[in-house]
Amino acid sequence: MTDSWPALLINWYRSHARVLPWRNPPGAVLPADDDWPYRVWLSEVMLQQTTVEAAAPYFQAFTARWPSVAALAAADDADVMQAWAGLGYYARARNLLACARAVTSQHGGAFPGDEAALSGLPGIGDYTAAAVAAFGFGRDAVVIDGNIERVTTRLLGISAPLPAARTAIRSGLAAVLPAGQSADFAQAMMDLARRVCTPRRPHCLVCPIATICTARSAGNPEDYPVKPAKRARPLRHGTAWWIAAGDRDGLHILTVQRPARGLLGGMRALPSCDWRGSDAPPPLAGDWQLLGAVRHGFTHFELELRVQALWLDERPDLDGALWLPVAELGGAGLPTLFAKAAVLGQSATSSGGKLAA
Ligand code: ADE
Repeated sequence: MTDSWPALLINWYRSHARVLPWRNPPGAVLPADDDWPYRVWLSEVMLQQTTVEAAAPYFQAFTARWPSVAALAAADDADVMQAWAGLGYYARARNLLACARAVTSQHGGAFPGDEAALSGLPGIGDYTAAAVAAFGFGRDAVVIDGNIERVTTRLLGISAPLPAARTAIRSGLAAVLPAGQSADFAQAMMDLARRVCTPRRPHCLVCPIATICTARSAGNPEDYPVKPAKRARPLRHGTAWWIAAGDRDGLHILTVQRPARGLLGGMRALPSCDWRGSDAPPPLAGDWQLLGAVRHGFTHFELELRVQALWLDERPDLDGALWLPVAELGGAGLPTLFAKAAVLGQSATSSGGKLAA
């Protein structure tokens, strides 16, 4: 009898699994210890925000400081927010605390193992509930993220565009889910997606399930998943202000923390208007210079952000100002939109700004 494709894939995973701090080796019995589901949940929330490589040091720091969900639930909000800084979106950190506290108050300090109960917790959606049930508890659950969607649509030749394709993806995976091996199966799919079944130029020659892949035999894996037809996004306009102040402590740039709610909520940014196109007054009167504009696509609109610059000899007192040494701007976790604006500011500052001299 020939092996099913999940069996072939899990076999491949046994010798190719990536070693990750929140992952047990293939075939491990789950949960590995009482705090294991907590660590899985923590890693999944972090991975919604950033890459495996960037999440790892945050994961180590969090688990060293708060080794259990009870410890995290008892933490000071400000300490958690500070430890989260750099991972972006503070709304996620707030949900993290709310979830830890709900586990403590509603579930006696231990994560529940079934998907429905997990889904009822703050910040836990379908994906995270399935991931914690499978990776945390070894339960049978269909775990689907964007990478698994790519592998599945190619393998099964699902040609409906996303998001409509999700029904077929879910039923296709549910039909072959290997009982008792959901964790290895899903993580094998994730590793295959990252290492072999890549978005462009997939490495079909080394794929353990190439022989049963629909897209491979048709020669068009890059056509999957089929994207939904693009709707034209409206173009909005706004202004960001690059304020550079040089005194005896060196050159500093004015940054702010964006309001917790709304786009790029809680993230470090350059000061800017509300992007509704109104000509909002700058935060300071002065000799402003227009440096140019940057473009950035959000889900529902495209933004053209003009960048105005002002160079000062000392840092004025401004509410909410977070002055950053210019050399630290790159590591400040600015979202892409503001990182693009900062490039304009930095090059103008080094090549012509008054303080460059
Ligand atoms: N992305 C999210 N969860 C993951 C996991 N357990 N392994 C690899 N990549 C992941």
